[in-house]
Amino acid sequence: MNAIQIYGGKRLMGQTRIQGSKNAVLPILAATLLIDGTCEIENCPDIGDVRHMIRLLESMCCKVERIGQTVKVYTNQLAHCDMPSDSVCVMRSSIMLLGALLARIGSVSMQYPGGCVIGSRPIDLHLQGLRKMGVTIEEREDGFYAETTELTGAFHRLPFVSVGATENLLLAAVLAKGETVIENAAREPEISALCDFLTKAGADIEGAGTSRLIIRGVKSLHPIAYRVPADRIVAGTYLAACLCSGGEIFLQEAPCTQMQSVIQAAEKMGAKFAESEEGLLVICKDRRKALSKLQTDSYPGFPTDLQSAFLTAMTVAEGRSVMEETIFENRFRIVPELRKMGAHIQVKKNLVVVDGTECLQGAVIQAEELRGGAALVMAGAVAEGVTIVTNRHFIERGYEDICFDLQKLGIRCQKIDYPVIDT
Ligand code: EPZ
Repeated sequence: MNAIQIYGGKRLMGQTRIQGSKNAVLPILAATLLIDGTCEIENCPDIGDVRHMIRLLESMCCKVERIGQTVKVYTNQLAHCDMPSDSVCVMRSSIMLLGALLARIGSVSMQYPGGCVIGSRPIDLHLQGLRKMGVTIEEREDGFYAETTELTGAFHRLPFVSVGATENLLLAAVLAKGETVIENAAREPEISALCDFLTKAGADIEGAGTSRLIIRGVKSLHPIAYRVPADRIVAGTYLAACLCSGGEIFLQEAPCTQMQSVIQAAEKMGAKFAESEEGLLVICKDRRKALSKLQTDSYPGFPTDLQSAFLTAMTVAEGRSVMEETIFENRFRIVPELRKMGAHIQVKKNLVVVDGTECLQGAVIQAEELRGGAALVMAGAVAEGVTIVTNRHFIERGYEDICFDLQKLGIRCQKIDYPVIDT
């Protein structure tokens, strides 16, 4: 079984560069389908989900080439083909292809997308919105067939904020006939990046970064080169590692302006920061303080994707902390694993109450999903002794090389096959 072995108990010291953003690049790769020609996506992280997205693009006869951190997507041969079901089912972002494919080739047959096991994750908002834009959708037990003769602009008011639905409707709208309005749109920086990519390619979008997007359909988009912004969640994960273990680290290229809610939460726990254009300096000297209440929310609130990492920091903070998860109903799956390491955590529906302990103990623990898995590695870094986190592949969906990054921050850790005899 693939795993990560961590020798914990050391303070963090050093610096590492933050990779390109997973949640920005996935919809941007889907958006290349809207463009006839070759797009160059720079600073594209080499992670599991990107590899799956590339496979999906290749299955539609796009040629995709990676040269270092740049991925070139050639869409001139785009054709309707069956998407590999393992890639569709393993990754929620495969749904992003729907809006783009309907715009370019008018029909899509696909299985329901998968993704991390953090909640039920329906796609009803995506489908409802597309129906309003002139798409006929036939749902089957395991998937659906969607077809349109012409996408038309429409007015959408999302009943709640959804990142994916906002992105999908945006992708469908840029080449649709007429104007589309999306109210109560998600404001995540990854949506701003998608709007930026599309606008540079010739789309007409007003309101990027706000909760009201107005998209006026254009006839076509043109190929561009685009640099993916740094990953605020990866930066936040290492910030939380410093909160757990203490120390002083510099996160090169960390997108500080996108991390304000995270920085504020960490400041309340006792961390100090210096923000600059080059990145983020994190200093944690004394034992961290508990946080009486931290609640996840859509952007600009505290991100659900960092809930597990901060929950881990709370296990070693002084006093009682409370974390409330408001976005996904099943995102406390790391709690039993943290308890194996000596953490004191009670779960009450979507709340956890954490009584901080001086330190955690190394253990063999299991990752079940991406962000939870990364948080368990952070727990290993603060724990006394050796920790083995199994199912490394979940973490590699979103982190290019978490071991390399942690080594640069002074933590001894390595990829292993488990069981293994340590010599
Ligand atoms: C995106 O997922 C991110 N994924 C997630 O990142 C992130 O946790 C999430 O947004 C929230 O910030 C990508 O960007 C690829 P949503 P998405 O639609 O788009 C419900 C990570 O670890 N909902 O904003 O799937 C849904 O069940 C991850 O990198 C419906 O009910 O999230 C959830 O409760 C995983 N019907 C809430 O809305 C729908 O049609 C928000 O989901 C759509 C969503």
